[in-house]
Amino acid sequence: MLTVNNLNVYYGESHVLRNLELNLAPAESLAIMGRNGMGKTTLLKSLVGMLPARSGSIQLVGEELIGRKSYDRVAAGIGFVPQGRMIFPYLSVEENILSGMQGAPTARIPNYIYEYFPVLFEMRRRKGGNLSGGQQQQLAIARALVSNPKVLILDEPTEGIQPSIIKDIARALNQLKKERGFSLIVSEQVLSFAMAVADRYLIIEKGEFVHSETQETLDRERILRYLTI
Ligand SMILES: Nc1ncnc2c1ncn2[C@@H]1O[C@H](COP(=O)(O)OP(=O)(O)O)[C@@H](O)[C@H]1O
Ligand SMILES: [Mg+2]
Repeated sequence: MLTVNNLNVYYGESHVLRNLELNLAPAESLAIMGRNGMGKTTLLKSLVGMLPARSGSIQLVGEELIGRKSYDRVAAGIGFVPQGRMIFPYLSVEENILSGMQGAPTARIPNYIYEYFPVLFEMRRRKGGNLSGGQQQQLAIARALVSNPKVLILDEPTEGIQPSIIKDIARALNQLKKERGFSLIVSEQVLSFAMAVADRYLIIEKGEFVHSETQETLDRERILRYLTI
């Protein structure tokens, strides 16, 4: 589904992602785990086209994404839920969702969005800025879903969100994934959430993958050591 080869990303002279390789199968869920500052956001932003790559290749179903603008990558099938959610505070919930759609503003929000996130229906006329953190996260996910992604990418979706809502979000993502058939990449520091959604785990340290685990062979303690040292 998604293949990343030899990806190198810099901020100025600072070499932040080093020769990253990544393969994501259809319908697979991958968690990218690592402490603050290890390169998770940089990686996800470079997949989405918000940061340029110095070298390397990012292919979505065989199509090269490097050099293409973000909106073009979204049209090709990349959905993105940014760290901190980045919803539009002065737009209504409905307008926020529509902003993720091709053909907005005349397009209609598909029914399944409100079925999965009933609170967004209740609040559809409210300003995005008036929602709680958990509700904003659901809104950011809804906004990414309406572009019909083949790969949905979430950057630290649990950050600043209550445990009960985190569970709801994991459940919704798993059901949506089954029903809509997308693959998932999620960056996380919260292992319980990653374990609820991921089939496979990659640990990133200083812009390099240093360890990987699958759901079957998961060594919890080992992953926790990477997250806490
Ligand atoms: N805009 C930026 N300019 C320069 N350096 C940055 C910028 N954003 C992040 N970095 C640096 O790149 C590294 C990776 O950061 P980031 O991808 O945000 O990590 P994470 O998401 O894992 O917390 C860190 O050392 C961080 O300080
Ligand atoms: Mg980050």
